[in-house]
Amino acid sequence: MGTAVSAEPERARAEDFERTIAADERIEPRDWMPDAYRATLIRQIAQHAHSEIIGMQPEANWITRAPSLRRKAILIAKVQDEAGHGLYLYGAAETLGASRAELLGKLHTGRHKYSSIFNYPTLTWADVGAIGWLVDGAAITNQVPLCRCSYGPYARAMVRICKEESFHQRQGYELLHTLARGTGAQRAMAQDAVDRWWWPSLMMFGPPDDASPRTAQSMAWKIKRHTNDELRQRFVDICVPQAEALGLTLPDRDLRWNEERGHWDFGAVDWDEFRAVLSGGGPCNEQRLDQRRRAHEEGAWVREAAAAYAAKHPAGADR
Ligand SMILES: [Fe+2]
Ligand SMILES: [Fe+2]
Repeated sequence: MGTAVSAEPERARAEDFERTIAADERIEPRDWMPDAYRATLIRQIAQHAHSEIIGMQPEANWITRAPSLRRKAILIAKVQDEAGHGLYLYGAAETLGASRAELLGKLHTGRHKYSSIFNYPTLTWADVGAIGWLVDGAAITNQVPLCRCSYGPYARAMVRICKEESFHQRQGYELLHTLARGTGAQRAMAQDAVDRWWWPSLMMFGPPDDASPRTAQSMAWKIKRHTNDELRQRFVDICVPQAEALGLTLPDRDLRWNEERGHWDFGAVDWDEFRAVLSGGGPCNEQRLDQRRRAHEEGAWVREAAAAYAAKHPAGADR
């Protein structure tokens, strides 16, 4: 298909693109696409990939202190999954012409962002539960619709990621459930973790719709399927009954069922805090980036060894 497409005049290729989007079919790496569509996807996929690998840090912080072998094994598996998610996503970005080295360079020099949520500290063991329940839960709410994203490699990566995220969400819920039924101190620790992670989780859906100028174009291209506020509302509606089942409260006095809307009303998110954390002012921004750069430098010998091995053994030569 490649040669036939490249011989077509620009206008016909653009029409082809529009037709594919309108028919709910997938755009694939070799298909023609508008530069802005490509740039938007690279930015979004890269930010997503960066969030996966930076997100390993707050939880890895607790691996050595997990309270049992079972909990340690679960947490190691989860943190390892997040590395895998980063890998699929950098791979998806690569199909658009952005190399992993280039994207990591932008992360390390602060030109690319990652989710603001990972700039908060994990103070107690219960934070591992709150992250699984709320942060992975918010990630699933965001990502399930991305399985129908118009760009094929991104959509397919999301299918596998969502399956793993749902395991992450359940292990967090189960961890909190155990603490909430434990001693008074364990219960208090679970409640404190939920109190600290609830609002930052709501920020994960991004700014309100009226302050999100790129949403309309992304929805027209079927990269995004729902607005930030729609997804945030869906998340709140899912979490309220789950919090009740846990026997924990959500730290929002304005939370009440709205019969007319058929949704839970909730209080105002502190968008000043969101902007401050996103632009570097969160409690852990510096620590997260320093650690990421250090891990990259310390992994240089692995990349060199892998490249030397690949040069000696060209793909398929040993088959
Ligand atoms: Fe993930
Ligand atoms: Fe996850």
